[in-house]
Formats: sequence, structure tokens, C-alpha cells
Amino acid sequence: MERENFGNRFGVLVAMAGSAIGLGNLWRFPYLVGSYGGAAFIFVYIFCVFLLCLPIFISEVIVGRRSRSNAYGAFKKLAPGTRWKWLGAVSVVTPIIVVSYYSVVGGWSVEYFFKSVTLDFTTGITRAEMGTMFGTFISSVWAPIIGHTIFLLLTAFIIVAGVKSGIEKFGKIMMPLLFVLIILIAIRAATLPGAGDGLKYLFKPDFSKIDATVCAAALGQAFFTLSLGVGTILTYGSYVSKKENIIASSTYTAVSDFLFAILASCAIMPAVFAFGLNPQEGPGLVFETLPFIFANMPLGWLAAILFFLALIVAALTSSISLYEVGVAYLVEERKYSRRGASVLVFLVAWILGILCSLSFGPLSDIRIFGQTIFNFFDKLSANVLMPVGGLLIVIFVGWAMKKNDVLDELTNGGTLKNRGISSFVLFLVRYVCPLAVIAVFLTAVIF
Ligand code: PFF
Repeated sequence: MERENFGNRFGVLVAMAGSAIGLGNLWRFPYLVGSYGGAAFIFVYIFCVFLLCLPIFISEVIVGRRSRSNAYGAFKKLAPGTRWKWLGAVSVVTPIIVVSYYSVVGGWSVEYFFKSVTLDFTTGITRAEMGTMFGTFISSVWAPIIGHTIFLLLTAFIIVAGVKSGIEKFGKIMMPLLFVLIILIAIRAATLPGAGDGLKYLFKPDFSKIDATVCAAALGQAFFTLSLGVGTILTYGSYVSKKENIIASSTYTAVSDFLFAILASCAIMPAVFAFGLNPQEGPGLVFETLPFIFANMPLGWLAAILFFLALIVAALTSSISLYEVGVAYLVEERKYSRRGASVLVFLVAWILGILCSLSFGPLSDIRIFGQTIFNFFDKLSANVLMPVGGLLIVIFVGWAMKKNDVLDELTNGGTLKNRGISSFVLFLVRYVCPLAVIAVFLTAVIF
């Protein structure tokens, strides 16, 4: 059967940006900005995204497009008979771990969307009550598992429909909608009395706040938000046609992802300041602080519905990219039908996700290296597997692949006339990215 491709440049952009833009932008980025000092964090983050992580992103697309294979098959094809195939094997397993816990948080978004539609966030509710509501919900048994199941089923339906009529079509409708939603909420937040302090916090850097911890957090977030090191971008890269300009498409993706993260912060921080709340709320920001704000601001019910809808859409376009890695592997390497592969990935991610979900309640005593199951999955993938995977990918492209093959992909066989920028990208891939990634993580471990 012929391999599917994304239809055109817009199709590539919405799929890639769909993977990149997700809970990482709406949930993780704003609370990291809040915890690590506002504009100073954003400043370091810009450097991490565009100078260090964009070349890694480009490297993954190169491996995918050059091999036209799933994450495991790619290394077998480009480096036959070598140990690189182990990187492929890890790249197939990691996204299944990530999608299982990602889908649990996706399920929380589904629950909070229903709560906002049924107007559960009533005026007068206190911040503490909102915290208790969230704590009771995530530690209960059934409600979060139902949310996780609904979310994972939605993901599976899009995947079964295929690359072009599922992933690409969904992205073409949902990504523009997502931008409209977040702009509407940002406008509402920015026009609240007292919102100006929040904007100042986001855009006026205090450089004395930058230290090794801030750098490590910014780099970790840049990895997470660009979906790096877990075979996702590699797999999507394998559906990019030979005519596309890899550097341009990847840069557009990184720019959209960055803009979205900033818009998300503009939708959240001004409201936090307008209500005199603490920006350093951590992970509870989206599910505790924000619903409290929505409950107590004019037109807040509408903002709540739009926000949680945006959260579901953003999470879905990311989870399909994670899910696709396992499906592509099973179809191409194990000769499964697309439907059969989707069912198998569903079952594994569903069961692992249930364990993650229960680790907030009945299974909270089970510890792996001192962590609950959910936290262990999160830390293992974001702090270990993603950075190591990303590092190995740039080493593979920079040092194991032939230089001419890499330049051939970047310049489309010399037809693009972008030799200068391609050589610069290759320089970043060979020297700057590996050294900087190692340095940042070592410093974070030492200090
Ligand atoms: N980039 C996604 C986000 O920011 O929410 C998360 C993610 C998706 C990570 C896909 C890794 C991945 F392979």
C-alpha cells in the first residue's frame, strides 16, 4: 500500500503545530513563567527554542523524511546493522508512556469543560474551595478514569481515519479555531481592571532572576513543547513530501508554538494579577486558580467554556501525534491493519493511564524511585527520555549520517538555494546543540 503524505505546506504546519501546541503551552508554560520569574524566564526560553531546540526539531524531520519510515524503521534503514535501532525502539515506547499520562490530564480538561458548561463554577466560590474541588476530583476513582477514556477514544477515532483525512483534516479545522479561542480569552483578561501588572510581569525582564535552575526549566519546557526526542516529529516528518522546505516548515511551527505560549500567558497572567493572586501557583494554575477567576469575573462563564474547549482541542492534536508513533510502527514493522494497531495502542495507553489516574487516589502509596506512578511517568519522559532522545537524534544527524545526505534534505537536492542557512543549521546540529544540551543539564544536576 502506498504511504500517505500530508497534502500541502499548510497541512504540514497544522499537523506539526498541532503536536507542538498542547497542554505544554496552556498549562505548563504559564505556570513555569509564574514560578521562574516572568519575562526573564521567557527571555531564556526564546534562546532555547530557536537556537537549541529548533535544530533538533529539523533533525527529526530530516530522519523521518529521508527514511520515509516509522521511528523504529527509520534507524534500521538509515544505519543498517548498527545499535542506532535501539534509539528507534525507545522512540516507539516513550510516546506510549507519554500519551497515557497526557490523556489523564486531557481527561481532567474534559471534566472541567463539562463543569463549565453546567455552570459549576458559581460566583462567590473561594480559591480554597476550588482547590478542594480539584483535589477531590483527581483523587476519586471513576470520574477521572471516565474523562481519560473519553479523551483517549477521541484520539483513537482521529487516528483510525488516517494521516490525511484524520490528522491533517482535524488540524486544519482545529488549529485556527484554537488561535481564535485563545485570542478571545486574552482580550477578556487584558481588559480586566488591574490587568496591566500582569502584562508588565510578562514583558519586563528582571535579568537577576536567571540562574541554572531557570535555564534547565526553560530548556526542559522547550523540549516538551516542541515534542522532541520521542519519535513524534520524526514520524510526522516521514509524511512530509519531498517538495517541502524543511527549515521553513519547522521554523513556522516553532514560531506558532511560541506565539501560542505567549498568548496563553496573556490570557492567564493579567487575570491572576487583576485578582491579586500569586503567580507562583505551580501546576494548580489552570485547574484551581483559573476556574476561581472565571467564577468571579464578568462573563467568566463564557471564558471558562472557551478556555476548557481550547484545552481539549490543544491536547487532542498533541495526543494524536503521540499515538501515531506506535500505530505507524505496528502497521509498517508488524503488518497490523491501521484499525488493529489503533486498538492495541489504545489498550496499552488506556491501562497505563488508569494506573496513572489512580496514583492520585487509591494507588498513591505505590512509589517508583520515590515517585507516584503519574509523577514517575512525567519525570522519566520529560527529564530523561526526551532530552536524551533529542541529544541522540542530533548526534545521529550531525555525525552518523553523511553530511551530503543531510544537506540534500535541507536544500531539497540543491533546488532551494538555501545552502548558507542549511550549513548554519548543520553547524548548530553538530556542535552547538549537543554541547549546550549537555552543559545545561549537567549544570542543573550539579547546582
Ligand atoms: N508538545 C506537547 C505540548 O506542549 O503539550 C506535548 C508533547 C506532544 C510532547 C507530543 C511530546 C510529544 F511527542
